[in-house]
Amino acid sequence: MSEAQKQIVTVGVTGASGAVLAQKTLALLEDDPRVERIHLVVTEAGQRLFAEELGISTGDLKQLADRVLGRKASKIEMLPNKDVGASIASGSYAVDSMVIIPCSIGTLGAIAGGISDDLVSRAADVMLKEGRKLVLCVRDTPFSHIHLENMLRAQQAGAVIMPVVPAFYHHPRTIDDLVTQYVCRVLAQIGLEQEKMYRWAGTPAARKAEA
Ligand SMILES: Cc1cc2nc3c(=O)[nH]c(=O)nc-3n(C[C@H](O)[C@H](O)[C@H](O)COP(=O)(O)O)c2cc1C
Repeated sequence: MSEAQKQIVTVGVTGASGAVLAQKTLALLEDDPRVERIHLVVTEAGQRLFAEELGISTGDLKQLADRVLGRKASKIEMLPNKDVGASIASGSYAVDSMVIIPCSIGTLGAIAGGISDDLVSRAADVMLKEGRKLVLCVRDTPFSHIHLENMLRAQQAGAVIMPVVPAFYHHPRTIDDLVTQYVCRVLAQIGLEQEKMYRWAGTPAARKAEA
């Protein structure tokens, strides 16, 4: 695959539960030869969730990606959430797709309301206005009327709403099994299908009947 065909992906991490989902997403993208560059933006609350759920301290933000991966990140560029003048804040900069994982209800509201007052919400707004792929991995439960309306608004504007809902049909044994399958489904949405993704092929009885 030529460099020109490789994807540039933005990953937003916000302060919803599920920091492990962000960690898995970054690890799979970092190792994916189809990906050229990953722009990473972590909100303040997102940094807190890395600390609360994974014990990863913020420290120097520039090294956060290395700490999240547990190794040197070669493709990840960390961008400060306050920098609304970063490359990804402009539609003239070619980002192929953006995933916000996990996506807080607060950031969902900002996107649905067109309030681009930080880099995560501005970059998401740019994806929508440019007609590019934006996947929102919204996490909370239960959802209020406001949350559901905001999801509908964002979906109607072009976003893929992918609430953090695990699947069980692949017989997961570990949390990593649950996380990996969900993240693989998210990456499939941006055209980066993973070999390790489980694909349902019907029940054995149904397959036999079809044969
Ligand atoms: C431990 C912890 C867990 C949280 N879990 C969620 C959650 O699952 N979903 C959510 O929408 N907000 C959650 N929040 C609240 C958000 O972090 C808060 O609304 C924050 O302002 C979101 O900001 P952000 O969108 O800029 O990251 C949680 C906060 C903490 C400290």
